Amino acid sequence: MDPAGKVALVSGGASGLGAATVRALVARGARVAILDRARDTGEALARELGAAHTLYVPVDVTDDAGMVAAVAAARSAFGAVHIAVGCAGIGFAGKVVSQGAPMPLGNFAMTVQINLVGMFNFVRCAAAAMAENPPDDGGERGAIVMTASIAAFDGQIGQAAYSASKAGVAGMTLPIARELARHGIRINTIAPGTFDTPMLAQLPEPARVALGQMVPFHSRLGRPAEFAALALHMVDNAMLNGETVRLDGALRMAPK
Ligand SMILES: NC(=O)c1ccc[n+]([C@@H]2O[C@H](COP(=O)([O-])OP(=O)(O)OC[C@H]3O[C@@H](n4cnc5c(N)ncnc54)[C@H](O)[C@@H]3O)[C@@H](O)[C@H]2O)c1
Repeated sequence: MDPAGKVALVSGGASGLGAATVRALVARGARVAILDRARDTGEALARELGAAHTLYVPVDVTDDAGMVAAVAAARSAFGAVHIAVGCAGIGFAGKVVSQGAPMPLGNFAMTVQINLVGMFNFVRCAAAAMAENPPDDGGERGAIVMTASIAAFDGQIGQAAYSASKAGVAGMTLPIARELARHGIRINTIAPGTFDTPMLAQLPEPARVALGQMVPFHSRLGRPAEFAALALHMVDNAMLNGETVRLDGALRMAPK
């Protein structure tokens, strides 16, 4: 699906990988709704890229009715929804047992609620809107990209909650692709390694450098534009469907 002239939704589009994807979609001629709970950064990006190309829509991805309303608002502003890229998520680290005490169950539940349930909430609403589109020349009505993590496959100590949430995203990719095939909607997932975004900016600089050096090639943190390029390719390539693609420079995370 060619993004030119299409309408895209990007959850988590106010920052990091999502913001880079918003920029790439606008550069390819799409109009983009930025769905994010971060109002300041969301509005600032929409202002920078211009009201003709972008719209900030405040939403918490865990909000059932809020997501229905957010997708409806984007659709009514831009007329349709053809592309959805789900980037909203949080990083959480915590051991199962720490200093003799079990991890507070709420920490695990919150991580799964945002990263997995929130991703599904976004996808279900976007897919329902896409199913209303007339098919394009290739028979497509929409293309969806979700964001998992390599922690879905080789999570480190302390990543039980985060890995579970991201493995859920990878796991639902194929059944959703199979179901939405009859609507002419494709869905794929990117599993990023370590990328240079505000999420990783929380780490001290030596830790960020060390993370980059763990990557076989290129031995650095990934650039958000590299994530966006793969997201756009997943939108472009009509035969790419139901797949999770690692984008990690051959990084395999050690236990800790
Ligand atoms: N940066 C990395 O190295 C890396 C690696 C693997 C996976 N990922 C995943 O990529 C995605 C984007 O990460 P990033 O590094 O760009 O992070 P980021 O913190 O820069 O951006 C995340 C965005 O999601 C939004 N968000 C978070 N919770 C939300 C909620 N409940 N409702 C609405 N918006 C919400 C935030 O406001 C923020 O704008 C995440 O799902 C993350 O798990 C990142």
